[in-house]
Amino acid sequence: MVVLTAFRAPGRVNLIGDHTDYNEGFVLPLAIDLECVVHATVRTDGLVRAGSADLRGEVEVAADGSTEPAEVEPPWGRYVAGIVRTLKDRGRPPVGIDARISSTVPVGAGLSSSAALEVGLALALCHAAGFELPRVELARACQEAELVATGVPVGIMDQLVSLSGKRGHALLIDCRSLAVEPIPLPPRLAVVIVHSGVSRMLVDSAYAERRHACEQVAARLGMPALRDATLEQVAEEPRARHVVSENARVLEAARLLSEGVTDELGPLLNASHASLRDDFEVSTPELDVLADELVAAGALGARLTGAGFGGCVVALAAREEVDAIVERATGRYAARTGRRARTFVCRPSDGAGPEQGRPGA
Ligand code: GLA
Repeated sequence: MVVLTAFRAPGRVNLIGDHTDYNEGFVLPLAIDLECVVHATVRTDGLVRAGSADLRGEVEVAADGSTEPAEVEPPWGRYVAGIVRTLKDRGRPPVGIDARISSTVPVGAGLSSSAALEVGLALALCHAAGFELPRVELARACQEAELVATGVPVGIMDQLVSLSGKRGHALLIDCRSLAVEPIPLPPRLAVVIVHSGVSRMLVDSAYAERRHACEQVAARLGMPALRDATLEQVAEEPRARHVVSENARVLEAARLLSEGVTDELGPLLNASHASLRDDFEVSTPELDVLADELVAAGALGARLTGAGFGGCVVALAAREEVDAIVERATGRYAARTGRRARTFVCRPSDGAGPEQGRPGA
């Protein structure tokens, strides 16, 4: 009997706390209602075959993890080989699947299309083999899959939020303990994502370079990670100063949201953007203009979200004002940069799981 299963895994937007996860700091992301869906049937010949309507080509890798991820073509297949490998390392039996992948998470936007793909595939592969892992371990397997697939030493935020998202909530994640605390988002506030129209560029090498710079400062200070540094200790180190100040902003934002004091959130988002632009230097002229125009048009606050170097800005705005704000801001953005911005007003969503209404048939 052929058993069809379907799993969905959402992308994410990070409200505040960028380049803090790999410094064992704090982040405040939410799972969004753009997602990757993986339909899978079990194969009996030891192969994992994946195809997608949106991504070109088809890939075939050995279900026992022996296919070298970095050598797979087309490149999106490296994520498939990567997750097969990292799950095998954790004991998944080598059961093959046929996977049909579809995704509404835009690629190269900084909304974690790759984490959504890894998580969706991981759930399908585990289900097919009757194999289970605790959620945090599954997130680690997906994070490691990204590393073997791309060579980029990413943190754990994207994979963990894709697995742990909670409808109506952002998640305060302590990236040292990996404790996840859902923080309710007031329905009167809309989370607005605006794509600058510039795909993320140079992000891989620059990301690794930033991470290395942070680790060097921590080592010099004799601490395991910048999570432990004070502002005084890093006053002369712009990269580390961003990390330390950003951690404080994340905790403050989570506290304000928990207490329902939303007026003061905007300045925190704006300060985060300034810090990513000036101290961490991961912004672009387009992201700066977009964040400025959103605030000028009436958003509470706005900041680049994710790794930077292109992609999206996230803003918070009063729900009834969103349409007018977006229209004004994207109009001004187009006039100043000649680029067309694309907007997503997203709903904070549940984390990955079986696709509703389409369980195994
Ligand atoms: C990427 C990485 C995350 C995180 C962000 C920056 O999305 O995958 O782990 O480091 O950049 O906050």
